[in-house]
Amino acid sequence: MTTSLIDKTCQFVEAKLAGEGSGHDWWHIYRVWNLAKNIAEQEGANMRVVELSALLHDIADWKFHDGDDSIGPKVAEQFLLKNQVGSEVIDPVIEIIASISYKGAGVPTPMKTLEGKVVQDADRLDAIGAMGIARTFAYGGHKNRLMYHPDEPPVMHQSFEEYKKNTGHTINHFHEKLLLLKDRMNTASGKNLAEGRHQYMQAYLDQFHKEWDGKA
Ligand code: NI
Repeated sequence: MTTSLIDKTCQFVEAKLAGEGSGHDWWHIYRVWNLAKNIAEQEGANMRVVELSALLHDIADWKFHDGDDSIGPKVAEQFLLKNQVGSEVIDPVIEIIASISYKGAGVPTPMKTLEGKVVQDADRLDAIGAMGIARTFAYGGHKNRLMYHPDEPPVMHQSFEEYKKNTGHTINHFHEKLLLLKDRMNTASGKNLAEGRHQYMQAYLDQFHKEWDGKA
């Protein structure tokens, strides 16, 4: 039962995200799913809720629906109802999907349940480190953004509206989001994993600026 529902969810998500070229493709989901299982095991979270939330968390991301962040939870709920999943699982899963997104440097996004904390940590871990660097430049290219502009400093967005309208260059995104994520991890296991990825990004940025200035 568990295996077949998870398999079906993988197929559903993979089909939905086919052709996604901005870093939110099936392989992002796959990595978040594996990270979430890893963290859930260490933290003792409910595996069924964690796996389904991880697999469905980007099913209809607000970034691709003109800022409408209510579509994802609806699509997930319909899928789970169709597969006879009980409300004891559906309710926490859609609550997690509705509240997982990063909404700006000054906007808190607290998760109520251990399962939510685990999945949010997994999603944020995939936004940092080597994977985060690759995804950030892929997203910037998708949006036709410059990699960097020396005269445009980072902006710390204080509202979700402000963050959504952001059109800055990609290096700013490291300062507006990626370098802040280490301190926003919820679980001890998430914090541990974030530490190494954070250091890797800082070393990358140092090298980027040295090469930009012709000094390396
Ligand atoms: Ni995600």
